[in-house]
Amino acid sequence: MRRSTRSNLALALALLALSGCRGCTSSRPPVHLNPNMDVQPRYEPQAASAFFYNGQAMRPPVPGTVARGELRNLTNDSPYWTGKDAGGAFVTAIPMAVDDAVRARGKQRFEIYCGACHDKHGDGKGILYERGKVPTPSFHTDRLRQMPAGQIFDTVTNGFGLMPSYRYPIPVSDRWAIIVHLRALQAHRLERSGGATAAQAPAPTETAPAPPQQTPPQQAQPQEVKP
Ligand code: HEC
Repeated sequence: MRRSTRSNLALALALLALSGCRGCTSSRPPVHLNPNMDVQPRYEPQAASAFFYNGQAMRPPVPGTVARGELRNLTNDSPYWTGKDAGGAFVTAIPMAVDDAVRARGKQRFEIYCGACHDKHGDGKGILYERGKVPTPSFHTDRLRQMPAGQIFDTVTNGFGLMPSYRYPIPVSDRWAIIVHLRALQAHRLERSGGATAAQAPAPTETAPAPPQQTPPQQAQPQEVKP
C-alpha cells in the first residue's frame, strides 16, 4: 500500500516534470532557479546610462591615451605616421620593413577594407559601384600607379572626396601593409598586360626599416596624422 502511494507520487512528479516540455515555444524567459552568475548587470555597446553626465554608457578614452604600438615621437614626425617626409612631400617608399607576413596581412586587410569598394583586384568594381554606380577609381591607371605610397596612406588615413577615412578602423602598420598589397596588385596587372615601362613602374616598396620612434610616455599626446 505505502509502496504504491510512493510510486504514484513519483509518477505524478514525473508527469508534472514532463508537462514542461510540451513542444511549444514561449516568448518569456525560462525559469532560472539558480541564476548564480549567469545573468550579470552590464551595459550593451552604445547603450544609455543615467549614471554618467553625458548619458552614454560608453566612455571615451582618457585624453592622452595611446593605443598599443601607436606611441609616436611628436618632434620627429617620421613618414611612418604621416606618409610625408620632413619637407612635407609624400614619400614614395614604404617606411617599414616588408616581409611575407606583412604581405599576407596586407592582402587580408585589403580584401576586408578596400575590396568592398575597389574590389579585390583593385578595378573599382566593388559592391558600391555595382549597386550604386558610385564612381570608384581603378588602381590600374597610370595616375594611381604613380601616386606616391605616402599619398595613398594619406587617402586611407584622412579619406578623399567620396571615400571615407579609415584612420580608426585600420592601424598605421596595417595601412602600410595594405599599400604593399596594392602595389603588388598593380605590378601583377602591369606584368600581365605586357610589362612595365620605367614611367609606369610602381614605386619601390622596400626600404631600410624605420621602426616607429618611441618616446617617453609623458610626451605622448593623441595626434592627428594630418597637420
Ligand atoms: C566605401 C567605399 C570605399 C572603400 C571601402 C575604400 N575606398 Fe578608396 N575610394 C572610394 C571612392 C568612391 C574613391 C573616389 C573618391 C573621389 O574621387 O571622390 C576612392 C579613391 C581612392 C583612391 C584615389 C584617391 C585619389 O586621389 O584619386 C585611393 C588611392 C584609394 N581610394 C585607396 C583605398 C584603399 C587603400 C582602401 C582600403 C583601405 C580604400 N580606398 C577603401 C571608395 C572607397
